[in-house]
Amino acid sequence: MIEKIGVVGAGQMGAGIAQVAALAGYGVVMVDIGQEYLDRGMSGIEKQLARAVAKGKMTENEVATALGRIKTGISYEEFSDCDLIVEAATEKKELKRELFAKLDVIAKPEAILATNTSSISITWIAAATRRPEKVVGMHFMNPVPVMKLVELIRGLATDDATFSAVREAAEKMGKTCAEAQDYPGFIVNRILMPMINEAFYVLMEGVGTPESIDTGMKLGCNHPMGPLELADLIGLDTCLAIMEVLHSGLGDAKYRPCPLLRKYVDSGRLGRKSGRGVYDYQA
Ligand code: CAA
Repeated sequence: MIEKIGVVGAGQMGAGIAQVAALAGYGVVMVDIGQEYLDRGMSGIEKQLARAVAKGKMTENEVATALGRIKTGISYEEFSDCDLIVEAATEKKELKRELFAKLDVIAKPEAILATNTSSISITWIAAATRRPEKVVGMHFMNPVPVMKLVELIRGLATDDATFSAVREAAEKMGKTCAEAQDYPGFIVNRILMPMINEAFYVLMEGVGTPESIDTGMKLGCNHPMGPLELADLIGLDTCLAIMEVLHSGLGDAKYRPCPLLRKYVDSGRLGRKSGRGVYDYQA
């Protein structure tokens, strides 16, 4: 029975997961490597909940109760009494594996270790632990409080009890689950990222301006955001990292990252989070 959830990382995904978990009634502990990241994550959660109160969707009391359920800390030891730990750290392969080896030592033997990775192999991460049957992919979408999907990914060793426990937790958070097997990019990013990457090729080749590409896909295909706007929301570095995983993991040239995407990342244009990506957010 899952009652307390640990969240690794207080960035846009980690804070979003902490928020939906607390609203669902779970006790939450969110850990990051520095207090400044935790402060930023908590202030984002507070702002969103304040907005919900202003819109009449929540009461002050409900917000206070939800916020009271979230504890923060800078040590992984905080996770020792968690039933489920969801990792939402940076999308770096080696870092994730090291992290899971550490979590395996700290977490209760029966605790489930989930990763919010958008493309790294669950099977490979699980192999760094002594409990691969209790390791699972729990891929929330951005922005977490709004998007209804959680993609659940079964590693080679993930057992049924683990899978049904995380499905139940995701449903309690108001999400619908789509089940995927453990292949690069799983379902959502295997389909979404090549589209975003192609939008960068279309831009690089001068087929269209950013505005015409995004308008084309919004009004022509009824997408809520154009692919370039969406790339800026996700983070261009994350998009590039996922394309690299698809390219190396599947070995097909159709997944080669667009050189313009790489150029933007090299220059520090990472999207909304850095103030500039395809579009400029500083003005
Ligand atoms: N965080 C929390 N809430 C947010 C938000 C954010 N960043 N952005 C918008 N919202 C909320 C708003 O407060 C509003 O809430 P209410 O309905 O309660 O008023 C609601 O979402 C709608 O917002 P807006 O009216 O401002 O704007 P919108 O209708 O244009 O919707 C959007 C914004 C939900 C982001 C929409 O444009 C959309 O769905 N975009 C596509 C997002 C998407 O594709 N995400 C998946 C990315 S892929 C991924 O995450 C996987 C990966 O591994 C990379």
